[in-house]
Amino acid sequence: MKTSRLEGFYKKTLEERLGILREQEELGEADVRLLKTGGLALEVAERMVENCIGMFSLPLGVATNFKVNGKEVLVPMALEEPSVIAAASHAAKLCLPEGFHAESDEPVMRGQIQLVGIRETEAARKKVQESKDELLNLANSKDSVLVKLGGGAKKVEARVLQGARGKMLLVELFVDVRDAMGANAVNTMCESIAGKLEEITGGKRRARILSNLCTERKVRASAVWKKETLGEETIEAILDAYDLAVHDMYRATTHNKGIMNGIDAVMVAAGNDWRAVEAGAHAYTSLQGRYLPLTKWEKRKNGDLLGSIELPMAVGIVGGATRSHPLAKLSLKIMGVQHANELAEIAACVGVANNLAAMRALATEGIQKGHLRLHARNYAIAAGASGEQADAIASRMIEENNVSHSRALELFQQLKKKK
Ligand code: MEV
Repeated sequence: MKTSRLEGFYKKTLEERLGILREQEELGEADVRLLKTGGLALEVAERMVENCIGMFSLPLGVATNFKVNGKEVLVPMALEEPSVIAAASHAAKLCLPEGFHAESDEPVMRGQIQLVGIRETEAARKKVQESKDELLNLANSKDSVLVKLGGGAKKVEARVLQGARGKMLLVELFVDVRDAMGANAVNTMCESIAGKLEEITGGKRRARILSNLCTERKVRASAVWKKETLGEETIEAILDAYDLAVHDMYRATTHNKGIMNGIDAVMVAAGNDWRAVEAGAHAYTSLQGRYLPLTKWEKRKNGDLLGSIELPMAVGIVGGATRSHPLAKLSLKIMGVQHANELAEIAACVGVANNLAAMRALATEGIQKGHLRLHARNYAIAAGASGEQADAIASRMIEENNVSHSRALELFQQLKKKK
């Protein structure tokens, strides 16, 4: 049976972890080889970006203990920062057995077509509205596959904007992109109707591109942490920390950075465009005119802590790197994701978990204790140690309460001399 509750997973060797994944996720030899080598072949990499000179690897881990809408899920996360995967796993454990609840909107993306140099902008706007069926048909003729799948352009809207260089007409096309992130489909459609829009309005086409602020495609996730689990004092401390994030933008930025630690790591592991998700998330929290935390924290009547998040999330499980990067495919397989919205829902839950973990540490023992423990091993590796040596150096630095690059170097030199 598949489970995300892999007790002591972090204490196992990499081979043992792979053994567990092999069994419960039905990974084959080829999958394990991909995981060990980073997955991407140089010939594929060379076709993905320009001026390619090689590959850049990141560690891939799995967050344990996640239960999303009643289903246990191991969550692949790719990132360079220690403690993020451990923090997510621990926070997820603390809200069991209930776990997280998540839901998402239909996958509708907004494309924008800017038209300038129009004499009668208001009359042009009306004409665009009157031609909406023709425009939708034209847009949909560019993506019959998407239309067959139930997606496609669904709505056209137009508004007049006053810019510094004069009035402009902004036509917006709303496209159901199904399981795609949507940038390609939407951009193609926007470009395809721009000529017709020039005819209708007498204006000139300028920008034709999707918006990463996809407010029609939001995801929501929440979980409850019981007062018996966290402790009443800790809940008060977390609420104080949250209050600061609500009232100070400098803190809100770091608060949200901690959330995006988790969300981005899932995006990278799943081969998704994390910059798009980042841009949308930060813009969304500012919609009311002030930059706010992405999460909300409140105490329930019974004293338990409820954490929730809502953010736009354009993710895909078809197209782009989700198809060309073998590890992205493998990550989706490990998560058992069948549709793009499920990926968004899992990522949003990880964001809430990372936020809870960060606030709990910040408001109580401080972030450095746990952080340094994990950094110690990195310092040891950077000093030249590997395997057991690195573990020994890390333990010694923690014992001494002196976790630093210089101490790791000293200890590594001492070990080398002993040999
Ligand atoms: C570090 O990567 C993330 C934190 O700074 C987040 C936060 O302060 O909430 C710990």
